[in-house]
Amino acid sequence: MTKLLEVKGLHTYYDESHILHGVSFAIEPGQAVSLMGRNGMGKTTTLKSILGLVPPRSGHVIFQGEEISHLPTWQRMRKDIAYVPEGRGMFHNLTVREHLEMAARPNQKGEQNWTVERVLDTFPRLQERLTNLGTQLSGGEQQMLAIGRALVTNPDLLILDEATEGLAPLIRKEIWDVVRSIKESGISTLIVDKNIQVLKDLCDQHIVLVKGQVVFSAGSSQLMQSLDEVESYLGV
Ligand SMILES: Nc1ncnc2c1ncn2[C@@H]1O[C@H](COP(=O)(O)OP(=O)(O)OP(=O)(O)O)[C@@H](O)[C@H]1O
Ligand SMILES: [Mg+2]
Repeated sequence: MTKLLEVKGLHTYYDESHILHGVSFAIEPGQAVSLMGRNGMGKTTTLKSILGLVPPRSGHVIFQGEEISHLPTWQRMRKDIAYVPEGRGMFHNLTVREHLEMAARPNQKGEQNWTVERVLDTFPRLQERLTNLGTQLSGGEQQMLAIGRALVTNPDLLILDEATEGLAPLIRKEIWDVVRSIKESGISTLIVDKNIQVLKDLCDQHIVLVKGQVVFSAGSSQLMQSLDEVESYLGV
């Protein structure tokens, strides 16, 4: 079976600082994959390399069997990759409904499983705040809107960067529950987060970065067997 995403030998720089040193991994269709590591290890840079926001100097990004390394970011996203960046990025002058309606579209295959209405059913808090501007939402609600906005593009791969960072435990739980149902709906996910306790159950495969290199890459059962080693990489 064709892999959904293959990342091969990425070397990424910011000017002269060499951040990613040959990062490689793959995501199978339908899988949830965690990408873990301490602060500054290159997680966000890996995501930006996949999306072309920071083009790698060498290496390959292959999505659904097609090399996309040469494409600009917007064309990669048109191939049904959705990205929820750190910090969410709301437009100040748009309401919740406008955010969702502007983003909503069928995917390349013409499917539209995730509609604005389905997102509002999934996140009842957003339903209650339809006419609020993006900036009039709590941090947790902004994160829900950011995920909702990604879902209505009907992606094959949803990439989440620190979706629960800085949120209260109850809101975190709500977000993890939704991520679980996103996975059950067949969308593959690549999840950057530090919460190994949640990720070990939620994800099928786990990747750990130390200083821009993959030091661990395995399924959940192997993660459990190597928990001490992995926790030492994460500093927990
Ligand atoms: N725009 C930039 N210009 C220069 N250096 C950068 C830039 N963005 C990140 N870096 C550096 O690249 C390294 C990797 O950063 P990155 O944001 O990928 O880490 P991260 O694993 O996502 O960390 P965090 O958990 O804090 O989000 C860090 O040393 C960081 O200082
Ligand atoms: Mg980051």
